[in-house]
Amino acid sequence: MQVATTIASARMAVEQARGERRRIGLVPTMGALHRGHVALMEESRRLADFTAVSIFVNLAQFGPGEDYDRYPRVLEEDLRACEAAGVDLVFKPSAQEMYPRGVPAATFVEVPGLSHVLEGEIRPTHFRGVATVVLALFEIIRPDVAIFGQKDYQQQALLRRMAADLHLPIEIVTHPIVREADGLALSSRNIYLDADQRRGSLALSRALDAARKAVAGGETDANRVRQILRSPIESELAAALDYVEVVDAETLEKLDRIEPGRPAVALLAARFGETRLIDNARLTE
Ligand code: PAJ
Repeated sequence: MQVATTIASARMAVEQARGERRRIGLVPTMGALHRGHVALMEESRRLADFTAVSIFVNLAQFGPGEDYDRYPRVLEEDLRACEAAGVDLVFKPSAQEMYPRGVPAATFVEVPGLSHVLEGEIRPTHFRGVATVVLALFEIIRPDVAIFGQKDYQQQALLRRMAADLHLPIEIVTHPIVREADGLALSSRNIYLDADQRRGSLALSRALDAARKAVAGGETDANRVRQILRSPIESELAAALDYVEVVDAETLEKLDRIEPGRPAVALLAARFGETRLIDNARLTE
């Protein structure tokens, strides 16, 4: 496994693989890797012949007062996880390497309709930071396929739209959410939860299960589904609900009715003390 800390050396490693006609897969991450990230790497190894993982805690996507400084940074463990997953290249640039002219950069990628709803209402500059760094990573690695997690549903929807609008020759793959045995979606931020919050966090997956069951049982009124999503979280003392939504799976437009032929997804976010968790589930395919 190669580890590149400069853009030039990452490009060289990928160029060599491309010269050998290998298909290039990219898994962008911010490190603190867990089984969810590893599942993305394994998916890349199935879909490509050369897997690159980027590890970069991207200041541009953190708002003022968010957890940039305390975001977990555990490079040695991350490198071991990548090695064990059979990754070919880890690209681990410094902030100086990615943003030599400082943050925020002068150039942004914005996908307004998808950037400013839901998570974007609460984190107004988050998604332009994500889209901009992911486009830069795409330009550096030039992958054939890039793998993202369904865990960050809005993120993958926005990156799909960016890739389509800009005619990027990159296949965007979304990997299902990897969960703990009790239902909590894996996240680098779960380590911040104390015992009460950890127990309370199960309200999120329970709410999504209840919504899925209701829709499978014939519920089509999106407001009633919102109520089903809301109630287990509101009755959980450790949780402060930010939002629950039922939206079109591609455009993220709010739905009134859940209809055949228009895939729907339930999205939610809640705070447990200082820690904000998000989760989602497809309601219909
Ligand atoms: P990060 O939070 O490190 O996540 C990296 C990738 O892992 C994302 O595509 C995310 O959706 C996926 N992921 C996280 N938890 C997962 C889980 N439980 N199951 C499946 N996939 C999971 O998302 C980012 O980093 C950044 O915004 C990034 C795209 C790297 C841009 O900076």
